[in-house]
Amino acid sequence: MSEESIIRIQVEGPGDQSQNLEIPDGINLSLMEVLKASEYDILATCGGMALCATSHIQVLEGMDKLEERSDAEMDMLDTLPNADDDSRLACQIKVSPAIDGLRIRVFENN
Ligand code: FES
Repeated sequence: MSEESIIRIQVEGPGDQSQNLEIPDGINLSLMEVLKASEYDILATCGGMALCATSHIQVLEGMDKLEERSDAEMDMLDTLPNADDDSRLACQIKVSPAIDGLRIRVFENN
């Protein structure tokens, strides 16, 4: 596999944990699905429809790599007391080479 075909994402949290995920290009998953597959405790009750907010993450680095928030994502983030300018819903982020190098933080009680 060549270098270009791996997407690297650094995940901080929950707590002091930190992990580098290496995701093969072409898997066609959302970041929420990748996090779940990597054993992160994300309920994703809505199945990735931007309706439950349990896939809330904080973007530490690389917000400019991501597509703009949709209205649905923004509305959902607005309901969260701990959401900020760097908040996103992981289910609304498509994993692709464009987001290689992203750094995020996941929360404990999603
Ligand atoms: S999984 Fe429900 S909002 Fe992302």
